[in-house]
Amino acid sequence: MENELIIPRRIKRWALESREIASLLTSAYGTALLEAYRDLDCDLLYKSVTHGVGHIERTMLFGAMIARNEHLSETDTRDVLLCCSYHDIGRIDDRYDLEHGKRSAEKIRESEGLRSLFSYPEEAMAAIHSHAVPDGETEGIPEIYGVKDPEKYALLTACLKDADNIDRVRIYDLDETFLRFEGTRQMVPLAWWVLDEYLRTHTVLCFGDSNTFGYNPRTGGRYPSYFRYPSILARFLGEDYTVINEGLNGRTTAFPLNGLEWLSGLYAIRPVLAAHCPVDTLVLMLGTNDCAASLALSADEIARGMEKLIRAAQEILLEKQGTLPRIILVCPPHIEESVWKGPFAEDMDRNSLKASAALPGLYEELARRTGCEFLNLDGVIWFSELDSEHLRPFDNYRLAGMLAERIRLKEEE
Ligand SMILES: [Fe+2]
Ligand SMILES: [Fe+2]
Repeated sequence: MENELIIPRRIKRWALESREIASLLTSAYGTALLEAYRDLDCDLLYKSVTHGVGHIERTMLFGAMIARNEHLSETDTRDVLLCCSYHDIGRIDDRYDLEHGKRSAEKIRESEGLRSLFSYPEEAMAAIHSHAVPDGETEGIPEIYGVKDPEKYALLTACLKDADNIDRVRIYDLDETFLRFEGTRQMVPLAWWVLDEYLRTHTVLCFGDSNTFGYNPRTGGRYPSYFRYPSILARFLGEDYTVINEGLNGRTTAFPLNGLEWLSGLYAIRPVLAAHCPVDTLVLMLGTNDCAASLALSADEIARGMEKLIRAAQEILLEKQGTLPRIILVCPPHIEESVWKGPFAEDMDRNSLKASAALPGLYEELARRTGCEFLNLDGVIWFSELDSEHLRPFDNYRLAGMLAERIRLKEEE
């Protein structure tokens, strides 16, 4: 729906996975496509999910591939790409509409700026008019625009119709018999792949305790979504990402707290991940509640709990999605003695502080052993003075910033 192109940002990454796209990009047709994306005036496009910018940029991609398959000249390739760019600007709704091609062509005819972009404006306008009309009913259209080169008109029409038609995968209604070129029929699996990749977002799941939940140390309630680090992370990462908050007050790595089994992360991890897969990146931030005096755990035992949790996460995701997620193991800040002056004084004893202080080293080693990435907050971020166990809004921002940088860097490699 947004007026922002996605393919120019992703196409280099796609080229790593698709031989067809890689070979397009190394050709002059790839260069022409990138130029057409650069010059596309998105404000002119019809705004919709079905016929909006997404359909247009995919149609342009297919147009460039067809131009390459058919060995089109540079000028013809440019005209095909322009036809793909503006063929639907006359749409007024998403319904079956035989007139929208005519309206698109009229808009081009009325705009000196648009018309002058084409090498063969008359033939292109006639092709755009014809794209919305069934094959047998195009008689008389070339005359409306004063077409001088009927072959050029036929070529532009065929290329536009194929490029436009193959993107019918987006409505799960592609009839391959309508495709004109054999080369386009061979592109059908690619069209499905492009659609999947186009609509795909990278899912980040933040699994943690009250600091992921967004516990507010001032009120004992929950921060507004605006201040929780997973929500901030979502804003930082933008539309290509989905960020899921799976934080729970009192959650431990793998131990029932206060006799409550469901507070164990190990208890929850399988159903949570199975419900949200595919998960691309899993952020695990736990360990503070494991330090509770009532559990009397050593740092080694907590790290072993975290290891069980990581192994369970890897196992369930490998089973459900066939791939291992990227896991960022986040070590929380250590608990300071000031906790004894706050509302959680009863929960923490000397052993709690000792265990908490030893976690960073153990987690770092654990991350190495289990193929996770490690992000240490200890010494970087401090718990709020209000209760010595929870993050302030500002620290939620800092944590989200560090995670966003990590997640993006890897994506752009
Ligand atoms: Fe159309
Ligand atoms: Fe279209």
